[in-house]
Amino acid sequence: MCGIVGYIGKRDVAPLLLEGLQRLEYRGYDSAGIVITSPKAAGLRMVKAKGRVRDLEARVPKRFAGTTGIAHTRWATHGAPSDDNSHPHLDTEGKVAVVHNGIIDNADDLRAKLTADGVVFASETDTETVVHLIARAQAETLEEKVREALRHVEGTYGLAVMHADFPDRIVVARNGSPVVLGIGEKEMFVASDVAALVSHTRQIVTLDDGEMATLKADDFRTYTTEGSTTSATPTTVEWEAESYDMGGHDTYMHKEISEQADAVDRVLRGRIDDRFSTVHLGGLNLDAREARGVRRIKILGCGTSYHAGLIGAGLIESLARIPADAEPASEFRYRNPVVDPDTLYIAVSQSGETYDVLAAVQELKRKGARVLGVVNVVGSAIAREADGGVYVHAGPEVCVVSTKCFTNTVVAFALLALHLGRIRDLSVSDGKRIIEGLRKLPEQIAEILRTEDRIKEVAEAYAGAQSMMFIGRVRGYPVALEASLKLKEISYIHAEAYPASELKHGPLALIEPALPTVAIVPDDDLLEKNRAALEEIKARSGRILAVAHREQEKADHTLVVPKNEPELDPILMGIPLQLLAYHTALAMGRDIDKPRNLAKSVTVE
Ligand code: M6R
Repeated sequence: MCGIVGYIGKRDVAPLLLEGLQRLEYRGYDSAGIVITSPKAAGLRMVKAKGRVRDLEARVPKRFAGTTGIAHTRWATHGAPSDDNSHPHLDTEGKVAVVHNGIIDNADDLRAKLTADGVVFASETDTETVVHLIARAQAETLEEKVREALRHVEGTYGLAVMHADFPDRIVVARNGSPVVLGIGEKEMFVASDVAALVSHTRQIVTLDDGEMATLKADDFRTYTTEGSTTSATPTTVEWEAESYDMGGHDTYMHKEISEQADAVDRVLRGRIDDRFSTVHLGGLNLDAREARGVRRIKILGCGTSYHAGLIGAGLIESLARIPADAEPASEFRYRNPVVDPDTLYIAVSQSGETYDVLAAVQELKRKGARVLGVVNVVGSAIAREADGGVYVHAGPEVCVVSTKCFTNTVVAFALLALHLGRIRDLSVSDGKRIIEGLRKLPEQIAEILRTEDRIKEVAEAYAGAQSMMFIGRVRGYPVALEASLKLKEISYIHAEAYPASELKHGPLALIEPALPTVAIVPDDDLLEKNRAALEEIKARSGRILAVAHREQEKADHTLVVPKNEPELDPILMGIPLQLLAYHTALAMGRDIDKPRNLAKSVTVE
């Protein structure tokens, strides 16, 4: 989704902003732009281009010097990708420049009013209305002008504003779309994502909704949109700049799949308590008495995080014996759900900024619910909005498609389930059994990753399929859902996931040699039932790829994964299927890190 980066200081700003934009490329975008100035320059200089950041770079003139600037990567919402619709947008006199993430809901009304007042628009975007509102504001200072403009605006924004008459500052504002300040030595940065900042500074301030900031080269201050000063103490980002590099891999997806053994080790580190066969989760903010009072757990997330939540719900039910289920956050908030005081709500999100999840959390909090977060990005909006939670410590996930974060989120749920189980009625021996299983995971993941050549071979055998079916039973079903999402996101092969038990209630009609089935077949109490489903598919001449703990004779191919405790098997069974999607997409020549139409972090509705 759109990205913002800005700088004010003494350095040559254009190369710095272009580098920042490159670091945001992973979020998905279709055009880019940059505007700069300097204390000595007369006015603003802007360059924009439809296409990639390298297309923008090619247009930047040789002499394009400045020490203050803002830049943007746009993901089209209002108006098609084009040079004119790219950000920054300028007012008619070319004095005010704005870059914006989010959606201005009342843009049509504002545009009609401004047009009636004689404003001529240069783009089809919602953002341009904000520029003209700022340019027409009567207030004296840039901060007041922005504030005056925002009073007319409904919707979500993370925005950065420059004004030719105020070249010593950048003013930024946040409402529903992330804005992070980077604090340097006599230089300040702003971005929509720390990825664009960490190579320059790891001291950051994350703005809250309703907050604004003024950045000057040697100073910054934060305040509310009403003007009252807020306190902002910089925190240090843990993630190193190198974690955002490709590290010798051809794609971020491959790098992130390969990092999973270490990532799982990190989510476990320091949390296991062997003495009481439990785990400690520091930030949960839920004492034993409160945990015992929980009657139901509802997990909310989107996409891959929702699938991780489905596995999480299964873990909680089996280990803690608390009724639990997961639902897409995007659906939940529109059905006026009954908010029950005895239900514990858990919001799951890698980015911690997904608008649908954040809005669901805010709705729940408004209705008095207790909400925990299972989040990867420390200090993100959902992490701050939640009453407590568990960080998944996967490290930065750059690829649009989620892999290591999915795995770590499921492990984080296993920890939570174990913790809740041990203060309810999970036995010491079962606690020990799960802990032993958790400890085995990093080595077992490494073992699966070592079979990549075989998975590649199998992927190439299926790469020509028009469509694929994924089936799994009970714990295996969310694995099937996630594997089918992975495949469709990066290969664009149509894929459907079904509970294996539902096959004969309809989808069996689709089975024929041209529709391969990927079946999750763990060696557990449901093995025979799963084998019966394989028989049914084989009887219709369907091709089968099984993911199992041992070779499946009914399958055309089997990817064998090591066995763990049955509750933890879904964690391992998902990993070869990430590589299956990866190598299928690779064999089809897809742009794996930048799948079409998708963005890493969906901060708009
Ligand atoms: O950052 P989040 O976990 O909240 O993101 C939720 C989904 O948008 C995300 O998981 C999406 O489904 C990914 N493209 C999955 O690969």
